[in-house]
Amino acid sequence: MPLPSDEKLVQLAKDLIGQFDTLFGLHPGFRPAHAKGILLSGTFTPSPQAAALTRAPHIARPSTPVTLRFSNSTGLPLLPDNDPNADPRGIAIRFHLAERAHTDIIGHSTDGFPTHTGQEFLEFLRAVAASQGVKTSPTPIEKFLGSHPATLAFIQAPKPSPASFATEQYYGVTAMRFLSRDGAARYGRYRIVPAAGIVHLSAESAKAKGANFLFDELAQRIAKGPIRFDIQVQLAEKGDVVDDATIHWPDSRQLLPFGTLALAAKVPDDAHEQQRTIFDPIPRVDGIEPSDDPLLELRAAVYLLSGRRRREAPETQASTATSAD
Ligand code: HEM
Repeated sequence: MPLPSDEKLVQLAKDLIGQFDTLFGLHPGFRPAHAKGILLSGTFTPSPQAAALTRAPHIARPSTPVTLRFSNSTGLPLLPDNDPNADPRGIAIRFHLAERAHTDIIGHSTDGFPTHTGQEFLEFLRAVAASQGVKTSPTPIEKFLGSHPATLAFIQAPKPSPASFATEQYYGVTAMRFLSRDGAARYGRYRIVPAAGIVHLSAESAKAKGANFLFDELAQRIAKGPIRFDIQVQLAEKGDVVDDATIHWPDSRQLLPFGTLALAAKVPDDAHEQQRTIFDPIPRVDGIEPSDDPLLELRAAVYLLSGRRRREAPETQASTATSAD
């Protein structure tokens, strides 16, 4: 996948990566955001209803192999799983369509995003960095939040720790444009719903957990049997805003069953594979197109630039989550 030709966009992508480096420090070989993660493998099975929404190949086939990465938030590879900054948790799903052909879904466990545009997100991150250690109010971040209600709403949204990566719900956040076989177009947003139910911890019980409790729990859980999720698409209705990740659609919107995931195993050589793998927020597959949400093209550039840098770094020796096997 090449970088976009828009030089301004590429510069913004570089500035954002630089800002993550400033906030979290440089950790060569790791992601500047969602640094601590683990890869699993399994199978996607489409739902019968999904064929009416999209002609995408993984919906037309009986099943498709997947690789999935769960992650903590922040660019700190050793961030304890029970640190409040570890939320929202991340999910990235790769559908393997053929040799070197794939399409991805990326989501996180909070429904929404702090800003509509990447430029605003950069200003937000700069305000966070400029406020570190500042005691006189209003700090730069207080000023930013005072003039950006959508960012404030995201910051204030409850982000409880999950009891397990397998008991968290994840949101695709940015809308996609789905095309059916007869050319009908519908906008929708992914939701990845745990078959085990949503189970969160109180702040107190999270505090009592160990630094690797989520990664350890996942290893124990998958050894006993597959971890399952339902993928749904929340369908937009006429008039819903489809290019702004800060805007929620009404809860009454239809949730179309897209398919199910069964995750059966950890990926061998996890650290190496995590370092090599670059997920892509743009689907790049017939039947699913990006919406005009400005975050999508920018993030594709950010993740590609960041991923190339990660691949060039010396091999990281161990996974960040090796305490249980
Ligand atoms: C302008 C907006 C955003 C910026 C600048 C940004 C930045 C980043 C960066 C730098 C990475 C590391 C990429 C890599 O090295 O491969 C990353 C990963 C990630 N981001 Fe974002 N992000 C943005 C929006 C979002 C949104 C809206 C979501 C939720 C849907 C999200 C969820 C994730 C997840 C789950 C990962 C980990 C992917 C993986 O496992 O490889 N990000 N982000």
